[in-house]
Amino acid sequence: MTDARYFEDLYAQSDDPWHLAQRPYERRKYELTMASLPHQHYRRAFEPGCSIGLLTEMLSKRCDEVVATDPFAAPLADAASRLAPRNINVAQGRIPDDWPDGTFDLILLSELLYYLSADDRGFALDAVESSLDAGGHLMAVHWRHPFDEAECTGDDVHAEIAARESLEPVVRHEETDFLLEVFRRAQA
Ligand SMILES: C[S@@+](CC[C@H](N)C(=O)[O-])C[C@H]1O[C@@H](n2cnc3c(N)ncnc32)[C@H](O)[C@@H]1O
Repeated sequence: MTDARYFEDLYAQSDDPWHLAQRPYERRKYELTMASLPHQHYRRAFEPGCSIGLLTEMLSKRCDEVVATDPFAAPLADAASRLAPRNINVAQGRIPDDWPDGTFDLILLSELLYYLSADDRGFALDAVESSLDAGGHLMAVHWRHPFDEAECTGDDVHAEIAARESLEPVVRHEETDFLLEVFRRAQA
């Protein structure tokens, strides 16, 4: 797993280390993410690794409830100060250990899984399978190019998801820089 100090140092240096709020690239990717969700409305979504909550805010307009977590207090304070809607529940937590109770009809993994070790990615996908409603959607979006802090590439992550028998492919959007896929949890 990527060392926590890497993220702590990033967040100590900047409120928004990836410039998520400024980069047109990120804005377009968020809009594609939202446009690719097969349902207009979801009951309950889980978004681990929410950082400063930009995608969380967009999700909240399409969901009755959003549970959004990140291991680090700094981005969560920023997210909490901006996210006024009462249907967003922001909490500190690191996957796979801090997986929220209850079930979801949408789980969103955006630029996250390649920071986890192979074992932890496996545990996280086990948790996805056990907490996603039958017919519910997993949205996964990941940068495709290798980088030093990542445990694997985005393509590796998506191949691991696709190998899960209970997760059926629904949407695949492939670009040079990122891969966006939606999977549906098969009926039990
Ligand atoms: C590249 S940012 C992506 C933020 C957001 N998901 C997006 O797509 O805009 C990665 C985020 O994952 C968080 N993170 C890192 N390891 C994590 C883990 N094990 N569980 C949950 N979040 C984690 C980091 O703190 C950071 O906020």
